[in-house]
Amino acid sequence: MIQLQHISKWYNVGGKPVFILKDVNLLIREGEFVSIMGPSGSGKSTLLNVIGMLDAPSEGSYEFMGQSVTSMKEKQRTELYKKNIGFIFQAYHLIDELTVYENIETPLLYQNVKSAERRAMVSDMLDRFNIVGKKDLFPAQLSGGQQQLVGIVRALIARPKLLLADEPTGNLNSKQGEEIMELFSKINEEGVTIVQVTHSEKNAAYGSRIIHLLDGRIESVSENSLKQV
Ligand SMILES: Nc1ncnc2c1ncn2[C@@H]1O[C@H](COP(=O)(O)OP(=O)(O)O)[C@@H](O)[C@H]1O
Ligand SMILES: [Mg+2]
Repeated sequence: MIQLQHISKWYNVGGKPVFILKDVNLLIREGEFVSIMGPSGSGKSTLLNVIGMLDAPSEGSYEFMGQSVTSMKEKQRTELYKKNIGFIFQAYHLIDELTVYENIETPLLYQNVKSAERRAMVSDMLDRFNIVGKKDLFPAQLSGGQQQLVGIVRALIARPKLLLADEPTGNLNSKQGEEIMELFSKINEEGVTIVQVTHSEKNAAYGSRIIHLLDGRIESVSENSLKQV
């Protein structure tokens, strides 16, 4: 599903390139659940953003579902993203001025889903995740865990094939974190490919493969024999 070849990313700082990613090669098959770990500043978010098409590499090639992301036009890339990828951010990134219902509905508006169908899809998700009672509240009226749950529901509503999550439990307590990992496992069993960035060994162990980044390079990859696809 994802094929990164010789991906590097650098910024010019005072006329000199500072590398954030260095020659990253990575193959992720459909249905995998991959965890990315590494110290702060090692390039985890940058790598996830490259995979999520939110950031372009300086060098290398990226193929997503057989299509060359690095050589396609911006508009095509946006379409590919909207159609296939759900992104969950550490800081939730909900829209403050919109209710829970409206936040969840947003990706469907981008996809031009018709109003009646949107209503059915949002209601279905509200039901499934037990947040019907919260639908008219605004993000500020929710706890961190509830906001992240809304962020997850929003990422899932358009039925993405790939779910990307950047430290999704970073701001949550351990029980909320565990619930979200259980939810990820379930979604993964339903066929959604997941790539998550995490600081937690425990959360990483939900994945079938753990990638360790150090200074922008893949330092090691460990297979989780308990969770093979
Ligand atoms: N626009 C930028 N210009 C220069 N350096 C940057 C820029 N964006 C990120 N970085 C640097 O890239 C490094 C890796 O960032 P990031 O991918 O966020 O790491 P991680 O998620 O592992 O903490 C950090 O040291 C950060 O300061
Ligand atoms: Mg980060």
